[in-house]
Amino acid sequence: MAAIRIVLMGPPGAGKGTQAARLAAAHGALHLATGDILREALKSDTPLGREARRYVDSGTLVPDRVVLALVEERLRAGGAGQGFVLDGFPRTVPQAEGLDILLDGLGAPLDGVLVLDVPDEVVVERLGGRRTCPACGAVYGPEGRSERVEEDRCDRCGAPLEVRSDDRPETIRRRLEVYREQTRPVVVHYELRGLARRVDGVGGRDEVTARLEEALSGLLPPTAVQGATR
Ligand code: AP5
Repeated sequence: MAAIRIVLMGPPGAGKGTQAARLAAAHGALHLATGDILREALKSDTPLGREARRYVDSGTLVPDRVVLALVEERLRAGGAGQGFVLDGFPRTVPQAEGLDILLDGLGAPLDGVLVLDVPDEVVVERLGGRRTCPACGAVYGPEGRSERVEEDRCDRCGAPLEVRSDDRPETIRRRLEVYREQTRPVVVHYELRGLARRVDGVGGRDEVTARLEEALSGLLPPTAVQGATR
């Protein structure tokens, strides 16, 4: 199977984490989510976590130099060779420029960028109902609640579920503003290079995965597409 090297973009709650995990598993790629890495650091109270907390909790962006260093460390540790799905990164034009330089140096250029389009009202509904498992990282949407054997416990590992600290209504609004101001220009950065494909992110999870796979197949060389379907 040929390695895929893609960025998955979209507003908060667009389904990036959900879909990046699926794409990475289907293509044997590394799923690199800067939000997950930062939340791990918050939990373990590392220097990185202490620096990141005020940004994450207020819905603003952690400084570019911090995030670029995190991504560089992981891609140099093997992610570039195995293939990767970047989730939540890059989020600013300087981050996108830093990624271009890093990938040039690694001889691993991007295959493309998939952008999930989801309107604000759907985002607010999804994030208002999201519960996460602090132990195993499972993510639940509002519709999953009634299926769980024990309300407010993780189906996979039984740990009590949590609401993310940045999923309060006022912080969701701030994150949407930050997306419009600082991350939409990154979409334009990739559109100008002909690398971006927009995908409708509204619909069931499987439906969205199928749309993403279709858009991805239009970005990859034919041999990579054949490999992924084996
Ligand atoms: P991050 O963790 O990246 O958050 P985000 O971009 O706001 O995105 P979310 O994780 O909220 O949503 P998602 O798109 O992954 O959707 P999900 O799959 O969970 O970043 C958090 C913070 O970290 C930032 O605010 C910033 O402070 C910092 N940070 C991170 N990266 C940074 C960077 N590069 N630079 C600077 N700072 C950075 O889905 C959402 C919900 O909807 C879930 O409940 C899910 O189950 C449900 N759902 C998913 N798909 C569907 C569907 N098709 N139908 C119905 N429900 C669905």
